[in-house]
Amino acid sequence: MKIFLDTADIEQIEALLDTGMIDGVTTNPSLIAKSGGDIKQTIAKICDLVDGPVSAEVTATDIDTMMAEAEVLSAIAPQVAVKVPLTKEGLIVCRRLSRRDIMVNVTLCFSAGQALLAAKAGASFISPFVGRLDDLGADGMNLIADICTIYDHYDFDTQILVASARNPQHVVDAALLGADVITLPPAIIDQLYKHPLTDKGLAAFLEDWKKTGQSIL
Ligand code: E4P
Repeated sequence: MKIFLDTADIEQIEALLDTGMIDGVTTNPSLIAKSGGDIKQTIAKICDLVDGPVSAEVTATDIDTMMAEAEVLSAIAPQVAVKVPLTKEGLIVCRRLSRRDIMVNVTLCFSAGQALLAAKAGASFISPFVGRLDDLGADGMNLIADICTIYDHYDFDTQILVASARNPQHVVDAALLGADVITLPPAIIDQLYKHPLTDKGLAAFLEDWKKTGQSIL
């Protein structure tokens, strides 16, 4: 399973590059606003830093303006995946862009029926928001399971990109279901490294080592 970083914060991206875990980046208008940067400069900088797909979202809702914005965003670098909302207009834009081999990430997916339409529209990625469904008392991972089953039935090429992840268990559940990608805020990546027994075990090893008086170097 690929791991994308869900942030538009350049410093956060730079800090995690050395881990070798980052296969791409996703942004959205809220994350761009939070970063305080200009969208075109920010996406260009992220593309310079990261090798994989970098999602940049349109901010219009009508077809013509979304297409015009998509032209600007996709011209930044070939690795840009233009993010469009899961609306009828968004899927028309998705179809037009995918026919020109421009990557499209269809975002704000909350049902399997929506995911089916996105795949038929030629989306490179579908982004179901698991955390926002969990927030409402639903089980976001059930949606991922349904989309996996449907896409398998018809051999769709669209990659399932688990979005709105809230905790490390979402990562494990997504991987168990065979999702293609999960996008994670930096804090969740940091949490993934952690286990109390790792900390406890390391402390005990170091304590015992100190008693030997030895040094490897
Ligand atoms: C990424 O593509 C999504 O926009 C993001 O994961 C949404 O996360 P949130 O529900 O925590 O805002």
